[in-house]
Amino acid sequence: MSIRPEDSAVPEDVTRDHYDRLAATYDENWAYSPDFLEWMTGCILRRLRVTDGDVTADIGCGTGLFARGLARHAAAVVCAEPSAAMLAQVPAGERLIPVGASAEDLAAGRVALPHDAYDAMLLKEVLHHVEDRAAVIAGLTRLLRPGGRMLVVMLPTRISYPLFVAALELFTDRQPDPVGVADEMHSASLDVELTYEGFPLSFPTERYLGMVRNRYMSLLSAFDDAQLEAGVAEIRRAHPGEQVAFTATFAFVLGTAA
Ligand SMILES: C[S@@+](CC[C@H](N)C(=O)[O-])C[C@H]1O[C@@H](n2cnc3c(N)ncnc32)[C@H](O)[C@@H]1O
Repeated sequence: MSIRPEDSAVPEDVTRDHYDRLAATYDENWAYSPDFLEWMTGCILRRLRVTDGDVTADIGCGTGLFARGLARHAAAVVCAEPSAAMLAQVPAGERLIPVGASAEDLAAGRVALPHDAYDAMLLKEVLHHVEDRAAVIAGLTRLLRPGGRMLVVMLPTRISYPLFVAALELFTDRQPDPVGVADEMHSASLDVELTYEGFPLSFPTERYLGMVRNRYMSLLSAFDDAQLEAGVAEIRRAHPGEQVAFTATFAFVLGTAA
């Protein structure tokens, strides 16, 4: 049986359905790795240089896993997210302001944000869902105040996750190149710096296979149940031990407005 999905295009409503379905269990995967959350939060805060009084926005914030870290330092974190179910998981907090909107809505001004200008903006693992990235980056850049920072956190085009081969290949097909994103940010007049950092992750194999079955990465939605089961069996054969260990490497593209 071929594990290759037939169609690799992903319409917006399919992405929204995926995250609506995943919302209730999204945090569980990462709650298992508090060290990862702390490491990633540190990577973000260090680059965005958020200080008291800063007005910030987390675009495609999901459940607010990283907006919470921003809120410990910023005056306000606007949490923008198109999936109502994901947004509903953002904890209530004076400094966390939920807004139901996509990056495209904000960039085009179809949905207005509550502040005129932003000191810092985070887009973590969101841009691969955006079709016209250059237009969205340019539109969001206009929301930054002079000296404002935009941080895009994303996976590189090749990952060493313990997935099955067809999933890894599809990932590489679909994932935008961080270098291209850096170029798009540069074209939007941002001063750009691209860096990479990795964190060693380890999961009990059964738990990781459960996450794959639950399609914890959106690209796994491209595989039907039978293809996914064949993929899980392939992972099992490649990882017969009790733990799977791998390094999650991320690209951090920081843009600063003049
Ligand atoms: C991989 S999750 C990342 C969530 C969060 N940033 C994090 O790192 O935990 C991707 C998020 O992007 C949201 N998303 C999908 N398409 C989007 C778009 N066009 N604009 C903004 N957010 C989008 C999804 O609903 C989902 O919550």
